[in-house]
Amino acid sequence: MAIARLMVVVAIVLVLGAQPGAAQLLREDHYDATCPDAHRIVRRVLKQAHRDDARIYASLTRLHFHDCFVQGCDASILLDNSSSVVSEKFATPNNNSARGYEVVDAAKAALEKACPGVVSCADVLAIAARVSVQLSGGPRWRVQLGRRDGATANINAANNLPSPFDNLTTLQQKFAAVGLDDTDLVALSGAHTFGRVQCQFVTNRLYNFSATNRPDPTLDRGYRAFLVQRCPAGGDGTALNDLDPTTPDGFDNNYYASIQKRRGFLQSDQELLSAPGAPTAPIVNRFARSQKAFFRSFARSMINMGNIQPLTGTQGEVRKDCRKVNNGS
Ligand code: HEM
Repeated sequence: MAIARLMVVVAIVLVLGAQPGAAQLLREDHYDATCPDAHRIVRRVLKQAHRDDARIYASLTRLHFHDCFVQGCDASILLDNSSSVVSEKFATPNNNSARGYEVVDAAKAALEKACPGVVSCADVLAIAARVSVQLSGGPRWRVQLGRRDGATANINAANNLPSPFDNLTTLQQKFAAVGLDDTDLVALSGAHTFGRVQCQFVTNRLYNFSATNRPDPTLDRGYRAFLVQRCPAGGDGTALNDLDPTTPDGFDNNYYASIQKRRGFLQSDQELLSAPGAPTAPIVNRFARSQKAFFRSFARSMINMGNIQPLTGTQGEVRKDCRKVNNGS
């Protein structure tokens, strides 16, 4: 009996060992002994940054997404160009768009002071996203920790991040490729309840949609008129708009009600409801009806996203400086 039990344990260890970076190795209490104030420290730095930058909570939440979708949550997005790294920061979806790197540096510096060499940059991003959503009025979740930082970046994969011009099928495929389903897609898109978006991502919907050279038919006329004022043809493509004009910096379920009114900003937002026969439509409607249902799913999906191929155990390293690998130039 004892031998049989031992064999089961050995088998489990072998299976886990055969799945490097298995998500179940992340734990909520990972830093309880080694850096018990980690959450508080990140929270303090973020609140400080928020005094001068109301958008920062949204920007940091997006950084975690752009990290996790590119070879897993390994802080690859934070690496600067070097002799061994082609930085993801210059990939199309990130260049002049992803932001918040200095605040990550500040959080990491504060953590290094309190507990040197302990908290990984990938976990700083996960904690920052969790704190940002909560401080904006959104749900809390038991953020799983223990990720290690990678030594490589992948600009090609970063160029293939979900695009605002993707149709629903492509969005579903890109989420499925990292193990996320339709509910994750709809719930995580709800992060567009806060933050800003540049005009260049909506001008095709306003002026020359597909081959027709007409507005996107799934865009509400009143909202289009509003956006035409803000984003005139031939105007400044970098001008900023609120992703959710109803509550620009609050985390709530208004995003879904806007989509129901055909007031989703991005094509990729509106597709979730308006693509012909969209299997995601009932999920949009459910989250529009119930903020509680949205919050519960969002929390679960953030944990799912944070579990994408983490490096754990002795894999990777804990970077001292999030911008470079420890022994890099
Ligand atoms: C479903 C596919 C998605 C697409 C196509 C997409 C695309 C975009 C685009 C084009 C912007 C505006 C960037 C700019 O104007 O510079 C944006 C902003 C944002 N995205 Fe997404 N996104 C997606 C999913 C997500 C997910 C999963 C999250 C987080 C969980 C997220 C969080 C955000 C946030 C918070 C902002 C505002 C950032 C800021 O103000 O700095 N997005 N997204």
